[in-house]
Amino acid sequence: MGGKAKSRKSRRDPKSAEKRGPKRPSRGSRPSKRAIGSGLKESSARWLRRQANDPFVRAAKAQGYRSRAAFKLSEIDDRFKIFARGRDVVDLGAAPGGWSQVAAERVKANTSNGGSVLAVDLNPLDAIPGVTIVCMDVESDAVVKEIRRMAPGGIDVVVSDMAPPATGHRETDHVRTVALADAALVLALEVLKPGGAFVAKVTQGGSAKELLTALQSRFASVRHFKPKASRKESPETYVVASGLKSPK
Ligand SMILES: C[S@@+](CC[C@H](N)C(=O)[O-])C[C@H]1O[C@@H](n2cnc3c(N)ncnc32)[C@H](O)[C@@H]1O
Repeated sequence: MGGKAKSRKSRRDPKSAEKRGPKRPSRGSRPSKRAIGSGLKESSARWLRRQANDPFVRAAKAQGYRSRAAFKLSEIDDRFKIFARGRDVVDLGAAPGGWSQVAAERVKANTSNGGSVLAVDLNPLDAIPGVTIVCMDVESDAVVKEIRRMAPGGIDVVVSDMAPPATGHRETDHVRTVALADAALVLALEVLKPGGAFVAKVTQGGSAKELLTALQSRFASVRHFKPKASRKESPETYVVASGLKSPK
């Protein structure tokens, strides 16, 4: 895949981040409830307090990741080994870039015989060493064309953390999240090499069943996985499918 940014090697050590994991801050270092968000709407103040007290938010900041979501993909890869040096990856819904950072580290995207990462999002991302960024709607036909142009040999892994803007209405959010996972799968089936892997965010509920059936018919292994970094109260979970079968 073209467009690799040549730049210095990241100072972050993914292996040590992996082993250590996010360190929980000591209680004494937490800002007091009253200090954070005072004067804001209660929902905004609650969100700010949760961010300030979240060990994954702190660890992401300390280790230079752009999002706490980076730890979700690290956990998925630790468990399912989807990445390896030299693999070509497409990251859908990539902004602000935590997943792309993890993928780039693990496929060694910034080295001579390393792999590549193509990050796609509606929103722009700041540059990440070894990552090519495309600002597009995953549901537009142009994305597949762009991926094929950049990686004519095909892709090894497609990951999607795409999420719609939350409405707060659980069923609506569920249907929209699964629709994005469906769109990611349609794209993945167009660009993945046989044997390739697919990861997507879904939420628990009825409309995920069809997606699951489609995945089971096309991949050798399909598993659900909720990383520790995914908040317990969140309905999100991830489907991890590997071993794409050749079309019959
Ligand atoms: C939860 S964030 C992803 C976080 C990211 N994995 C990280 O680690 O930084 C979800 C992203 O999905 C993107 N998204 C939602 N619908 C999309 C679409 N149709 N095409 C491209 N990106 C989309 C949003 O713009 C948002 O940036």
